[in-house]
Amino acid sequence: MKLDDFVAFFVAKIINRGGDIMNQVEFFNSIAEKWDSTTRVDEKRINKLLSQISIKNGESILDIGTGTGVLIPFYKHLNRDGELTGVDISQGMLNMAKRKFGQLNNVNFKLLDVEKDSIKKKYDKVVLYSMFPHLNNKTETIKKLVNENLKENGKLLIAHSDSREFLNNLHSNADESVSEDRLIEVNKQKEIFESVNLNVTKAYEDDEIYYIVIENI
Ligand SMILES: C[S@@+](CC[C@H](N)C(=O)[O-])C[C@H]1O[C@@H](n2cnc3c(N)ncnc32)[C@H](O)[C@@H]1O
Repeated sequence: MKLDDFVAFFVAKIINRGGDIMNQVEFFNSIAEKWDSTTRVDEKRINKLLSQISIKNGESILDIGTGTGVLIPFYKHLNRDGELTGVDISQGMLNMAKRKFGQLNNVNFKLLDVEKDSIKKKYDKVVLYSMFPHLNNKTETIKKLVNENLKENGKLLIAHSDSREFLNNLHSNADESVSEDRLIEVNKQKEIFESVNLNVTKAYEDDEIYYIVIENI
């Protein structure tokens, strides 16, 4: 989550004052309209992240937590003909994505909770960009995605275009409801995935990016 998300979060909380603390769906619905004007899209970092899974034309891609579809133009550039499916728990975010990209061939969006709902299809590539910390049951969800939604030899990418330190500093100063949305040191995360027999082929972080690649071999 980026700095702007948190600014928007507190604004939304103030608007919501007097009611219950927003849950995650309400939060993302409340910031959907302004997401694209407040979120930085660093093309260089995103291309570097996506290059880790070598997307080829014609492949099917599942974009988990697609939001307003920020990655769709990047996928289309690499993969003009493949099927792109964006899923998200927030109808507000998906409405924005559909408005921007709903008319494109081979692009579709679905409202669902990746932790609770089952996606009955397998893909060549599964991507979680800027969304992994929002999962409550991280290991179980990734294992489920690999087992149920990744084709043989398919690749799953967890990716961030900010450093772990940057993200976690924001989180630690944020509201209780998001303070647990943390990234851990990339090699520790790798060990956790390996402890449940996931095949981690890349795990890297620096002061600009964070990524993990899991392959279904
Ligand atoms: C920080 S935003 C990132 C959106 C987009 N990937 C981007 O970078 O612009 C995280 C997204 O994950 C979605 N999300 C959070 N938990 C989810 C879940 N359990 N299932 C599906 N989507 C989820 C949110 O609704 C939100 O759109």
